Amino acid sequence: MKNRKKLYEGKAKILYKGPEANTLIQYFKDDATAFNNKKKAQIPGKGVLNNFISELIMTRLKDINIPTHFIKRINMREQLIKKLEIIPIEVVVRNIATGSLVKRLGIKDGKILSRPIIEFYLKDDKLNDPLVSEEHILVFDWASHHELEEIISLSSRINDFLTGYFFSLNIRLIDFKLEFGRFWKNDETSVILADEISPDNCRLWDLKTNKKLDKDRFRQDLGDVDKAYKEVAYRLGVLSENEFKKVIKNDL
Ligand code: TMP
Repeated sequence: MKNRKKLYEGKAKILYKGPEANTLIQYFKDDATAFNNKKKAQIPGKGVLNNFISELIMTRLKDINIPTHFIKRINMREQLIKKLEIIPIEVVVRNIATGSLVKRLGIKDGKILSRPIIEFYLKDDKLNDPLVSEEHILVFDWASHHELEEIISLSSRINDFLTGYFFSLNIRLIDFKLEFGRFWKNDETSVILADEISPDNCRLWDLKTNKKLDKDRFRQDLGDVDKAYKEVAYRLGVLSENEFKKVIKNDL
């Protein structure tokens, strides 16, 4: 790993050059950040859990023909992924009002939306990832009309699928954030799901108690962040308590 070329370091992940030209290695860190990096901490084992959780979800999405950048998990913290040109838009899908939606518009926290809302944010830390409209995306060429249609259609399918999937595990999928990229093949591009899907970028509430099982535990200082992520991993069946303990002992 030491000789590998680091191409990009984000808040929670690092991208290294992959073994082939059109691949990358995605490394999951234990770093947690919130409020655009203003709040920071290390959550031991978070990277391992997110690697396994995201692997499972990306694999399930592939099973229903959602194109994703995930190729395979390499080890406890790394995945081989397709190299994409990232579209600079964060797509947020909401089923229940909470978070910034509630703050911005004064909607009642926990209100079940009459249908899912898809929002777009410009990926730009310096500007604090501002909310943008479809018009902004098209006029400023962040994505083409065809790409935007594809992004909306994929996001909606992903939401329908994941809502049911988590529901079967007694978890309510409140909202989540997706990122997409362009994959180049023979001078043509297609839109592919990128990044990760994990408790870092989803809001997951226990169906019966509404207990938060996601990064809001860190954002809101609710404690037991690692326990919540483990709970999600166990419910998804990706990592047993014993396996996780072994990993953490040898890995850190
Ligand atoms: P929000 O309510 O703060 O706008 O967040 C909506 C969803 O997007 C929530 O599931 C958390 C996720 N999210 C990220 O993954 N990264 C971010 O930088 C932000 C602000 C939200």
